[in-house]
Amino acid sequence: MRKGILTIAAVGLLTTGGLTACGDDSGDKAASAKTPKIGVILPDSKSSARWETADRRFLEEAFKAAGVKYDIQNAQNDKSAFQTIADQMITGGVTALMIVNLDSGTGKAVLDKAKSQGVATIDYDRLTLGGSAQYYVSFDNETVGKLQGEGLSKCLTEKGAKNPVVAYLNGSPTDNNATLFKAGYDSVLKPKFDAKEYVKGPEDAVPAWDNAQAATIFEQQLTKANGKIDGVLAANDGLGNAAISILKKNKLNGKVPVTGQDASTEGLQNILAGDQCMTVYKAVREEAKAASDLAIALAKGEKKDTGQTVKDGDRDVPSVLLTPKAIYKESVKDVIADGYVTKEEVCTAAYTKFCAEAGIS
Ligand code: BGC
Repeated sequence: MRKGILTIAAVGLLTTGGLTACGDDSGDKAASAKTPKIGVILPDSKSSARWETADRRFLEEAFKAAGVKYDIQNAQNDKSAFQTIADQMITGGVTALMIVNLDSGTGKAVLDKAKSQGVATIDYDRLTLGGSAQYYVSFDNETVGKLQGEGLSKCLTEKGAKNPVVAYLNGSPTDNNATLFKAGYDSVLKPKFDAKEYVKGPEDAVPAWDNAQAATIFEQQLTKANGKIDGVLAANDGLGNAAISILKKNKLNGKVPVTGQDASTEGLQNILAGDQCMTVYKAVREEAKAASDLAIALAKGEKKDTGQTVKDGDRDVPSVLLTPKAIYKESVKDVIADGYVTKEEVCTAAYTKFCAEAGIS
């Protein structure tokens, strides 16, 4: 296995050659006879570059390595298309369905239907609240938020900010991850607001993580705050870039630290240019591999012990939660070394100088 820069939380077991089987002899005989075919529904291609540039690529890599059939489709932020794709996949004979839900309601409908047809189910990256997925594979999302809060705080200190006004651009209100990210950054920043060390500025959730809408929202926040925003907690790189575009218009970029997530090419370039404070790198290759291993096992009628569960109401959902990593200017090179993005993608003309400064050779 590739040597990643991340340590994997729950799972020394993952790095040491896969999840352990529970030896489920009572396993579904019909399922064990099935040839694995895995259906994946990605949410969109605009809320983050990751879905098409990383998840599709690494899922394909994992499925090909395992020699299983697969069908990866993207719902393009359309809930009815999401359900239609799921129906087609079920009719088309998938043995396991992996979804990144657009909201818990439609996610649950899809999972329940798959289950009723004997199709194994996995919540990939986003937990479907009240759902019925057999496994949940993601990152420790509260830690993602904590790294963002700590990162913003570190960058504000470096800028020598006194009683900084901090604005929030939260993720989609229908994405459980956005709730977890916020819980994470609140755990770092709220004590500072309470202690009057920081001042809580405007806060908005961005519907469907829509980057264009995020720019409008941030422009309104800046107006509302009379131009006095000293730091922006943006929940991912797309929202961060939206804020940066407005800061640029106001000649405030580089002065106001902005956070992000996903280690997108754009986010990394913003960091190198000094316009973004940090991002959170999630090794999607590991996430895709863990989900693929589980889907294949389920298709064979095996049950795996992930060694960890996550609570969804009263239900304990067996989970694999990987460890995210904060990335600053000096560690952009680690993301490249891990094969997540290439030097050629990041170090384009305008960024060659910054790349050299950051030790990217
Ligand atoms: C994912 C993030 C992504 C966001 C927008 C979240 O559920 O965990 O990586 O940036 O959705 O697509």
